[in-house]
Amino acid sequence: MSVHADHWHQPPAPLVLDDKEVHVWRARLDVPAPRLHQYEEVLSEDEMARARKFRFPVHRDRFVSRRAVLRRLLGGYLQVSPADVTLENTEFGKPVLARHHDTDLRFNLSVSEDLALYAITRGRDVGVDLEHIKPAVSDESVPEQFFAAHEVAVLRAIPKAHQPAAFFDCWVRKEAYIKARGMGLSLALDSFEVSFGDAEPARLLRTAPDPEEAGRWTMVALYPAPSHAAALVVAGQAWTLRRWNWSWMTGKDDHRLG
Ligand SMILES: CC(C)(COP(=O)(O)OP(=O)(O)OC[C@H]1O[C@@H](n2cnc3c(N)ncnc32)[C@H](O)[C@@H]1OP(=O)(O)O)[C@@H](O)C(=O)NCCC(=O)NCCS
Repeated sequence: MSVHADHWHQPPAPLVLDDKEVHVWRARLDVPAPRLHQYEEVLSEDEMARARKFRFPVHRDRFVSRRAVLRRLLGGYLQVSPADVTLENTEFGKPVLARHHDTDLRFNLSVSEDLALYAITRGRDVGVDLEHIKPAVSDESVPEQFFAAHEVAVLRAIPKAHQPAAFFDCWVRKEAYIKARGMGLSLALDSFEVSFGDAEPARLLRTAPDPEEAGRWTMVALYPAPSHAAALVVAGQAWTLRRWNWSWMTGKDDHRLG
């Protein structure tokens, strides 16, 4: 099996995002208590109420972190303070920036344990998904339950030892597309197929009922950390991907977005 690695960079200041770029940030969510208290200060009342519903403190704290980092990032691009970023949910639960921000900035995020990915674009729909690779899942009937018939056949033809990684590659690519479309699971999981497996670059192979839909999106595999699978789906072509480290990942001070 090949070992993939992406290069993730410290962002320059000022940082500019235009409509020909897509920025993906990776962040660690487990932070020291003083940092967490700062994070709490930028959350909305709704978010704090949601945080309080978590049963385990670790999950509560990671929720606080993931929302605070999201607010810091969006606030940076919008040039407003993180607490002044207003988020709304679409009818399918996809968070978007409130209309009053009058911006073409779009985003999506995904978390797995204490790692988070944030994808940010201008004027392009976007979905990102991240999963920690857990060996057992692909052994069960999960693929048969969730994947298209051709995807199951491809997966089961892969040597057993490589099936967990292939399973999660397929999973995150499907999920990133679902998240980019923003329709939740009302988009049938077997109505589209993705490529996966070592020889295959990430691609949306087939969409139904509209076969043209597949050509409207670009899919990219991401490798943010060992034993993780991740994928990004963005509307349109001809854009450049930039991968940034959220500063606390390296222990450095906050940077300024321009
Ligand atoms: C909620 C869902 C978007 C993904 O959830 P998930 O994989 O558990 O969680 P992730 O960490 O990847 O993403 C969570 C973030 O997605 C965003 N999100 C929520 N609903 C969304 C939607 N309809 N579209 C896009 N993004 C959405 C939110 O920002 C959320 O973070 P928040 O809780 O801080 O608001 C949804 O697709 C789902 O429930 N999927 C079920 C999983 C499944 O059956 N997948 C099959 C793949 S083969």
